[in-house]
Amino acid sequence: MTATVLVTGARAKTGAPAVRQLAAAGADVRGGSSDPGGVRVPGVTPVRFSWDKEETWAPSLDGVDAVFVVRPDRADAPDVVARFVELSHPDTRVVLLSETAQGGYGPDDWAPRVEAAVHDSGRPWTIVRPGWFMQVLTDPRFFLDDLAQGRLPFPSGDARLAWIDARDIAAVAVAALLDPAHEGLTHVVSGPESLTLAETAAVLSAGLGRPVRHDDVDVDVALTGIDGFDREITEDTYARVRRGEFAEVTDTVQQVTGAPARSLAQFVADHADVLRG
Ligand SMILES: NC(=O)c1ccc[n+]([C@@H]2O[C@H](COP(=O)([O-])OP(=O)(O)OC[C@H]3O[C@@H](n4cnc5c(N)ncnc54)[C@H](OP(=O)(O)O)[C@@H]3O)[C@@H](O)[C@H]2O)c1
Repeated sequence: MTATVLVTGARAKTGAPAVRQLAAAGADVRGGSSDPGGVRVPGVTPVRFSWDKEETWAPSLDGVDAVFVVRPDRADAPDVVARFVELSHPDTRVVLLSETAQGGYGPDDWAPRVEAAVHDSGRPWTIVRPGWFMQVLTDPRFFLDDLAQGRLPFPSGDARLAWIDARDIAAVAVAALLDPAHEGLTHVVSGPESLTLAETAAVLSAGLGRPVRHDDVDVDVALTGIDGFDREITEDTYARVRRGEFAEVTDTVQQVTGAPARSLAQFVADHADVLRG
């Protein structure tokens, strides 16, 4: 039977490859976006979905077998996600894109409360916890413009990141959306190696054939122009990076998908045109 799957963030870095992979696997895919006209993937039905517009939730969920919840980064996410999932049929499989929790969270912290909204929902669930996405390097909202100027400004304090390709996160999520074997599991996913930001810049330089320099800027500089809750979680994320909490390498991608996680060098080769501007 064809599975009907809703992806709440069809334009997001992991949601976009997830809708493509689900369509390739033969699923009936609904690509949720507040801008459905921006979801143009063969075999994917764009649907209007916005965390800000509660009236879009129930129609998006109607008749779905599984939903990929691309976590919304907003202070009220624990409540919003709980109310959204509550509208789904009790048998709906719910897969949440969360983030690595290495180093430990308190139960009252924001990220575990979003996860609790899913695993306390009574629905069959899977949590996917990735580290930093390689796709921040090609995202104009993150590092793309800096890289065009040969700079990678990142307040890492020489800590390492096990960069992961969002295509691999999506592959793990898709497995969980389509296969009940993943129910009740938390998948911690990472890339195949843990790199300092200087090593990251070196991989970019080699792949692009031109110099890219890491600037270990102050956290305050990296937070310039970021306000409100976004600033709070971004500041917390940089603190966690600096404590080494995004350095863990796991073999989850290989275990779940049967293929090794893509390296940063592979990512740079695949996106060299975009990265070169
Ligand atoms: N980025 C990382 O390295 C990382 C690492 C670990 C965990 N996470 C978590 O993963 C979740 C998703 O993060 P993300 O970085 O994948 O989110 P993202 O790419 O910023 O996408 C989130 C949403 O932003 C909207 N959006 C607005 N303008 C856009 C544009 N120009 N291109 C694409 N989307 C646009 C889209 O919603 P509409 O289509 O409705 O506008 C999209 O679903 C978050 O909870 C984040 O904390 C991220």
